[in-house]
Amino acid sequence: MAYLLGVDIGTSGTKTVLFDEQGNALASALQEYPMYQPKNGWAEQDPEDWWKATYTTINKVIAKSGVSPSEIKGLGLSGQMHGAVLLDKNNQVLRSAIIWADQRTEAECKQITELVGAKRLIEITANPALTGFTASKIMWVKNHQPEIFDKINKILLPKDYVRFCLTGEFATEVSDASGMQLLDVPNRCWSDEVLAKLGLEKSMLGKVYESQEITGTVHSKAAELTGLNVGTPVVGGAGDQAAGAIGNGIVKTGVISSTIGTSGVVFAYSDNVRIDPLGRVHTLCHAVPNTWHIMGVTQAAGLSLQWFRNNFCKEVMETAELMDVDPYYLMDQSAKKVEPGSNGLLYLPYLMGERTPHLDSDCRGVFFGLSAMHTKKEMLRSIMEGVTYSLRECYEIIQELGVEVNEVRASGGGGKSPLWRQMQADVFNHDICTINASEGPALGVAILAGVGSGVYNSVMEACDATIRVKVSENANSEAHEKYNGYYELYKKLYRSLKDDFKTMAKLV
Ligand code: XUL
Repeated sequence: MAYLLGVDIGTSGTKTVLFDEQGNALASALQEYPMYQPKNGWAEQDPEDWWKATYTTINKVIAKSGVSPSEIKGLGLSGQMHGAVLLDKNNQVLRSAIIWADQRTEAECKQITELVGAKRLIEITANPALTGFTASKIMWVKNHQPEIFDKINKILLPKDYVRFCLTGEFATEVSDASGMQLLDVPNRCWSDEVLAKLGLEKSMLGKVYESQEITGTVHSKAAELTGLNVGTPVVGGAGDQAAGAIGNGIVKTGVISSTIGTSGVVFAYSDNVRIDPLGRVHTLCHAVPNTWHIMGVTQAAGLSLQWFRNNFCKEVMETAELMDVDPYYLMDQSAKKVEPGSNGLLYLPYLMGERTPHLDSDCRGVFFGLSAMHTKKEMLRSIMEGVTYSLRECYEIIQELGVEVNEVRASGGGGKSPLWRQMQADVFNHDICTINASEGPALGVAILAGVGSGVYNSVMEACDATIRVKVSENANSEAHEKYNGYYELYKKLYRSLKDDFKTMAKLV
C-alpha cells in the first residue's frame, strides 16, 4: 500500500495528515503557534515555529498511524501564501516573516506600480500591486531596514522555508510563487523585467517547479527530526488556496469553492489567464499544469470569529473544555437562536484591512446598528453574516468575469458549521455542497505528492479516485430576500466610511 503525507503550514497552526491511496485520512496532528502584531495592521510570525510544528506533527502522525516510513511514497507542502522569509548567506533567518495579513506596505505598492508601470505589472503578474503580496513586503524591508536587506541571500515563501529545512533545496512552485508578484503568471516563470525594475536578483529566489513535480528529497537531519526515511520525495505542493482547491476537486469549469479559514476565499478554476481589470480578485497559476485560477479574498473571515472568541468568549471556551466540545460549536448554537439579519446588527469584517473588492489597507472592523437590546448571540451571528456578505462580493465578481457556476463547495473550518453553510446558501442564493474529506489543503498536496511519485497519473484522476460530493444545504428564497436588504446596506456602509477609515488611520 502507498501512503501520502500532506503538511499544511497555516496561520494559526500546522496540520499534518497521512492519507492512503483512496484519500482516507489515517492520522492527523495539529500544532498551533502565535501571530505577532507589533503595530495596528502588522502581522508577523517566526519561521522556526513553522519548522518545529512541521517535524513535530510529522513525527506524531507516523507514530499514531503505525505506518512504516518506507511506505510513505511522497510528501506535499501547502502553506499560507505571500509571507517573506529572508535568509542570509549562512541560511539564517534575518527577521521574523512579514506574513500575508500584514498591511504596512501601501507606499511600497505605489512604488512598485511606478517602477514597473500599472499596465505592465498586470500584464506580467496578472494583479495590481497588493499590500498582501510578497514583493511589497520585500520593498518595505529595502526601504525601512536596508541593513537587513543588504544581507538577503534568499527569499522564500513560508512552505518553501519548510521545504528548505526538509530537503536543503531552494525551490517553490507556480501557485504560491504567483502570489509573490515576481512571477510572469501567463508564462509560469520568474519575470526578469519585474525583478530588474525592483532591483532584486533572480538568485535570491528558489527554482520554480510545477506543483506536482519532485523538488528534492528528505535529508538525513530532517529524517532524524521527522521520522521519515531519508530520500522521501517532496513535491512542489501549493499555496494553501490552490492546495485546498485540489483537495476539494476544483479542477474543472463550473465548480467553485467557498472557503472560510483564517481568511475567506471564493476560488474558481480557469483554463486561460482571466484578469479582473479592476484588480478586485486575484489571478494566479493553479496547481494543475497549464491552468490558472481566480480568487476573491476576505482578509479576516475565520479570523473575525477567532478574535471574538479569544476576547469575549472566555466562559464559552471554559464550558467547551468541560463538555469536551469545540467552542465554535457552542458559539454556533448561540448564533442559531437569532433570525437572519441579527436583529438589525451588521458587521464589516475589516479587522486586517480588506482585499476583495476594496483593496484597502486602512479600513477596519465595524459593528453597525448596535442597540442595548443586542447580546453576544446577535454579535456572533452578525460576524458570521458580515463575512458571508464579503464572500458574496467575491462570488459576484467571479461571475462578472464570465466564470460559469454550477456547483459551490463549502470548505475550511467555517465550512464545517451547518449554520455558516446555510448562511452561504441563502446569501449567495445557491445550493451548497460538501465533500467526503474535510482535510482540504493537506489532502490537496498529498494528491500532488501522489501524482509526483507515480501513485496517480494525473491530478484529475486522483480527484476522481478520492473525492465524493453531496448537496448539504439548499438555498432558501425567503431568507435570501431578507439578507438582500442587509447586503445592500453592508455594501453602502463601506462607501460611506471609506474616508473616515483613512482619517482614523492617520490618528493611530
Ligand atoms: C490568499 C491568502 C490567504 C493566506 C492564508 O491570497 O492570503 O489565504 O494564504 O490562508
